[in-house]
Amino acid sequence: MQFFIDTANIDEIREANALGVLGGVTTNPSLVAKEKGVDFHDRLKEITAEVTEGSVSAEVISLDSEGMIAEGKELAAIAPNITVKLPMTLEGLKATKALTDLGITTNVTLIFNANQALLAARAGATYVSPFLGRLDDIGQNGMTLIRNIAEIFDIHGIDSKIIAASIRHPMHVTEAALNGADIATVPFNVLAQLVKHPLTDQGIEKFLADWNK
Ligand code: E4P
Repeated sequence: MQFFIDTANIDEIREANALGVLGGVTTNPSLVAKEKGVDFHDRLKEITAEVTEGSVSAEVISLDSEGMIAEGKELAAIAPNITVKLPMTLEGLKATKALTDLGITTNVTLIFNANQALLAARAGATYVSPFLGRLDDIGQNGMTLIRNIAEIFDIHGIDSKIIAASIRHPMHVTEAALNGADIATVPFNVLAQLVKHPLTDQGIEKFLADWNK
């Protein structure tokens, strides 16, 4: 399973990239809105200058397919590794098909059941993004969804990659890996939590104390 970072903050992206574990970036309109005064396209240029190979998801805001396609073409022109993120709607599916036919990579987002993932994949989505945390929030099991999508894609030989999204804590990451997600897109704070273990810290302290004796 690969790691993407789920942020539009350039400092977080730089820091995560320096760790050598970063396979890509996902953004969404809420994450971009947190970056006060930043122009979306300018930020995408900065991100793609930092992350030159991995996919960088940029989401459209139009609700109709024509608008999504026009926005998608503009976003994709920013850098070759831009992936156009589209909502899981009828219009989003039409736009996914059209952009895929143009050779543009797509990420269908806001997926909450297996049928949505299957439809997105059949429309040509490069990535599908089931939202774990938001399902857990309403008392449904987000991880079961990851497992079901992985199984369906496996049975039917579907190549679309599963991005476990809306990740809230380290256990989501471990479970997503065990249940067949291809990628976990994690907020920076979760990435930092993944590194930590109290026994690692204690071990370092003990080694240094012994060394200094
Ligand atoms: C994924 O691509 C989304 O940007 C993100 O994971 C949503 O997470 P949230 O439910 O914590 O907002």
